[in-house]
Amino acid sequence: MKLMVIGGGGREHAIIRKLKENPAVTEIFALPGNGGIAADATCVPIGAKDIAGAVDFARREEIDFAVVAPDDPLVLGMVDALEEAGVPCFGPRADAAVIEGSKAFSKNLMKKYGIPTAACEIFDDMDAALAYVRTQTPPIVVKADGLALGKGVVIAETVAEAENAVRAMMGEHIFGESGSRVVIEEYLTGPEVTVLSFTDGKTLVPMVASMDHKRALDGDRGLNTGGMGVIAPNPYYTPEIARQCMETIFLPTMHAMNAEGRPFRGCLYFGLMLTPHGPRVIEYNCRFGDPETQAVLPLLESDLLTVMQAVRNGRLDEIDVRFSDAASCCVIVASGGYPAKYEKGFPITGLEQVSGACVSVAGAALQDGRLVTSGGRVLGVTAVADTLREAVALAYKNVEQIRFEGCFWRHDIGKRALEA
Ligand code: AMP
Ligand code: GLY
Repeated sequence: MKLMVIGGGGREHAIIRKLKENPAVTEIFALPGNGGIAADATCVPIGAKDIAGAVDFARREEIDFAVVAPDDPLVLGMVDALEEAGVPCFGPRADAAVIEGSKAFSKNLMKKYGIPTAACEIFDDMDAALAYVRTQTPPIVVKADGLALGKGVVIAETVAEAENAVRAMMGEHIFGESGSRVVIEEYLTGPEVTVLSFTDGKTLVPMVASMDHKRALDGDRGLNTGGMGVIAPNPYYTPEIARQCMETIFLPTMHAMNAEGRPFRGCLYFGLMLTPHGPRVIEYNCRFGDPETQAVLPLLESDLLTVMQAVRNGRLDEIDVRFSDAASCCVIVASGGYPAKYEKGFPITGLEQVSGACVSVAGAALQDGRLVTSGGRVLGVTAVADTLREAVALAYKNVEQIRFEGCFWRHDIGKRALEA
């Protein structure tokens, strides 16, 4: 079978590595992939948002199955276009990907179907938003409606800061069109949990729950990033909470999307907060999380391609999706300065010393046969072990082997989980 995976980050590398375990897979193309993915797939210089390019390529190469991993092409309708061209795909169609593409859509969905989330108001008018903010007690959560590279959320400690966020999004359009509508919501507290799930719209199978570490620096300080490390399973996510989430959040969301005529097939991502009043949805994503996928997929014992095909064909109920009881830890190694300004082009050394762990490459390119940095999050090192403590130790032992100029990582991935 010839497969095609859209995207070029650590998540895509983890997906490709898992897909390769199936002996029926003869070739995997990554569009566009990256310098590290090139070791596991054939990289093709077609951008992840290039729908016409992907359709052309899939036809030309007679691709048997495609995985569209990133949010942008999903929201733009790449799955619709590929399916119409006769290429079976894993991933939601655009009408379902809107669950991530518009926060106003997802908040209204939750309101309409009684799915627990932070109370909120939605604004298209800046003056109305500003007036509302002035009636609120901080912290005030201000979110851009559309996709904003994970940067569209401001937790304002003062009313003035919230006003500035509204002006920046709605007046100065710092996130472009994504911010012409804003969501202002209640501030929630509690441990955060990510639950990725496979769903074909009829059956929903949650994967092992994980914990992302979003801030750039140790002790949850510094700027928000795309994620600096992940552990799984998440110790806060007890069987009782899992049961509650299935009953009040996961299945109701699947049914709500069906009732709206937007059946969701793919990986539905639940970003949850376990508040003192119960689990609440912080966000939905229409795709695998990154870096969560780098920690969660290594625990999957079932064949990923079989699961993805079952999701695509509406037959998820017919297969067994198994995860191991082991624990995993993924530590992201980033470029100095990330998530703000950073330099690129530094050679990466030490990858051959890595042992007992796997490396998913996110931001690196091949230059004269050498791997050099090309992004903020450069790579993720994932280790799996019987206990979380061992997984964390093994991941860090391997991170220590890897070097490039200015590299940095958090030293406390899994610390909070181990203390929990
Ligand atoms: P999001 O992009 O919606 O996942 O938000 C990014 C991060 O902001 C989340 O992971 C939370 O840590 C935080 N956050 C978002 N919404 C809220 C909220 N209503 N209350 C408290 N923290 C929030
Ligand atoms: N790690 C957060 C995300 O994938 O959105």
